[in-house]
Amino acid sequence: MTSTILDHAVFGVFSTHALHLADKYGVFVHLAADGPATPARIAEARGIDQDTLERLLLVLTAVSVVERDADGAYRLASGTKDLLDPEHPRYIGDFVRHLVVNTTGQLERLDAYLAVGKAVADRDRPAVFDSIYRDEVATGEFLEAMWNLSFGVSQELVRLAALDDARTLVDVGGASGAFAVAALSHYPRLSVTVFDLPQVGPFLDRTRRAEQLEDRLHFAPGDFFRDPLPEADCLSFGYILSDWDDATCVELLRKAHAACAPGGRVLLMERLFDEDGGPLPTAVMNLSMHVETEGRHRTAAEYTALLEAAGFADCTVHRSSWDKHLVVGRKP
Ligand SMILES: C[S@@+](CC[C@H](N)C(=O)[O-])C[C@H]1O[C@@H](n2cnc3c(N)ncnc32)[C@H](O)[C@@H]1O
Repeated sequence: MTSTILDHAVFGVFSTHALHLADKYGVFVHLAADGPATPARIAEARGIDQDTLERLLLVLTAVSVVERDADGAYRLASGTKDLLDPEHPRYIGDFVRHLVVNTTGQLERLDAYLAVGKAVADRDRPAVFDSIYRDEVATGEFLEAMWNLSFGVSQELVRLAALDDARTLVDVGGASGAFAVAALSHYPRLSVTVFDLPQVGPFLDRTRRAEQLEDRLHFAPGDFFRDPLPEADCLSFGYILSDWDDATCVELLRKAHAACAPGGRVLLMERLFDEDGGPLPTAVMNLSMHVETEGRHRTAAEYTALLEAAGFADCTVHRSSWDKHLVVGRKP
């Protein structure tokens, strides 16, 4: 028997899978579109097995993802509606799929890391993004997960960034354009260049067309370890520094400093550790960074120190109401 204190730790693996499967088989879409429904009705509508569905829904009820009425119908809990509705900007289903399909299988490497250290265990491993971008499907799925993580919160981050004075922004590693689209819709005089690996180009092109931003959203293919960064009033890094160690981060920020106009700014958008080591999502994603990348999550003070080491000054921290926050440095 486990105590309730350990429930999350012991049973979390089941609730994550239940969440992913309910999303994958359209259970949440059904509840979002049609309202409360019994397992029998959902199973019939989605063509899935009722017994398995009932068991998944009981787990999801226990962790407050859905709620069950007295008559046995299930509904999305009020706090989870937006996050589970694929039509909503806060939808997280693609990110959960990434955790279940890509990350979970890699967790066993932590065993070897503990035994011999990451450097030794990963000696023969391909470079991080060679593995993530191993084929077009994997590339597309990763970029969808990034869009899920970044698009909703970017609406808030662009306001916190106060870009009214900037005319040009380079989003370094800007992926399929989540932050770029948010910035362009808030600042009509801004033009944005996403600088990213060439494999990302077709996915950003889709965004440019879908959002009708061909004239204001541009793509600069490149490798930020080999190439200089394009010049701009402002350069942004969303979930980039958390992929790399401190020395690499300072190297990238020095490149940003060289490309940044005098008086311009660099924006770091990242999860932040509290001084006490929380919150839970940052602690978990810090472990995920360990197996998926060469980086880690940091406190606001640690990001400020990296910015200062690269020559930025007047650093400020702006917290969003989500889990991605903003640290700004100014080029004197
Ligand atoms: C974790 S994703 C972050 C995506 C996006 N900025 C966001 O906040 O959602 C890291 C991004 O860095 C890009 N990237 C990785 N290595 C790179 C390199 N050497 N040069 C340019 N971009 C790179 C990836 O293609 C990817 O888009």
